[in-house]
Amino acid sequence: MFKVNENYLKLPGSYLFSTIGKKVNAYAAANPDKKIIRLGIGDVTQPLPAAVVEALHKAVDEMADASTFHGYAPDLGYEFLRNAIVENDFRARGCDIRADEIFVSDGAKSDSANIQEIFGLDNKIAVCDPVYPVYVDSNVMAGRTGSYDAVSETWSEVIYMPCTAENGFVPELPEKTPDMIYLCFPNNPTGCTITKDQLQVWVDYANKVGAVIIFDAAYEAYIAQEDVPHSIYECDGARTCAIELRSFSKNAGFTGLRLAYTVVPGDLKAGDVALNGLWARRHGTKYNGAPYIVQRAGEAVYSKEGKQQIREMVGRYMKNAHYILEGLKGAGYEVYGGVNSPYVWMKTPDKMTSWEFFDYLLEKANVVGTPGSGFGPSGEHYFRLTAFGSYENTVEAVERIKGI
Ligand code: MLT
Repeated sequence: MFKVNENYLKLPGSYLFSTIGKKVNAYAAANPDKKIIRLGIGDVTQPLPAAVVEALHKAVDEMADASTFHGYAPDLGYEFLRNAIVENDFRARGCDIRADEIFVSDGAKSDSANIQEIFGLDNKIAVCDPVYPVYVDSNVMAGRTGSYDAVSETWSEVIYMPCTAENGFVPELPEKTPDMIYLCFPNNPTGCTITKDQLQVWVDYANKVGAVIIFDAAYEAYIAQEDVPHSIYECDGARTCAIELRSFSKNAGFTGLRLAYTVVPGDLKAGDVALNGLWARRHGTKYNGAPYIVQRAGEAVYSKEGKQQIREMVGRYMKNAHYILEGLKGAGYEVYGGVNSPYVWMKTPDKMTSWEFFDYLLEKANVVGTPGSGFGPSGEHYFRLTAFGSYENTVEAVERIKGI
């Protein structure tokens, strides 16, 4: 009889956003007259920027003509896109990154789940707590996390780094030494971020102990404050210890289009093995590249018009974030994030658990958010709201919450 990968059987429950989706659908079916406002999953709602749509149309026409048709994309992604990425996301910020260190893909979710494949199973991972569930779950599937304790909701072989109001949602260096450190800033779910000096401490630490940092910068476009780094490569020494994940989903509205990239610098080595070569091997073997038309759409994100349209789009979401933040603050809630990020992280009122508050909000205000405990034990008694809705819905949701 064949055997399954038993690591999958260790996973508790279903993926957080699937659980929420099911709960909300059940509520909606039982209450068809209620207008539910969804500020749960961080999915964008605004249409693609005009420059992106134009690039898509043009690329589709190219695909319709034998002389301009494109088949398989190059392994690492088209040069036109990788060059635009290097120029705009790195050189413009003084970061030393080359086009052959960029790997174009179909999403930061899959990259963040897949990247662990090139590391040994006996590596110890460290994660912020709360954390984007994909980092932990993908390591569970690989068999790197030990056993699950249902009471503490933690894995025996994972180093958890609590991020709470007490430490400003910035993790402290762990007591046990990790091999792989996952950091996400601006952070999902807390919406808080890290200064360049604070990140430099992590880079120095990783270089000292021989750990690799997997730095998820999916929310980079939302950074508003000067001292917040847009890339880990703004820190000295990051080329020898860090991989960076980037996404087109949240800045340019590509959640339904799918495009992202991962940076693996040539200087990042385990002994004399370069990780760039390993990831190239993995990419070449398991992936046939993001579609040509989508890569052209990605290129348009960096055009003059594209940049302007994206700034406007991000600005609209940040107007929502500001409204949520100030509205809830005014109503006496304890709220965080929402300044350099589209997520607002609130403390649940009256010591309600995160899931109690989820149910309460759904029933009393017909507003959907995400329970903080779904992101890890230190997320208990917190709750996440996203700024990705329409302005009208955001205003209505905040007014409803204020009214309960
Ligand atoms: C979230 O809501 O945390 C995000 O949508 C997750 C993701 O980007 O995959």
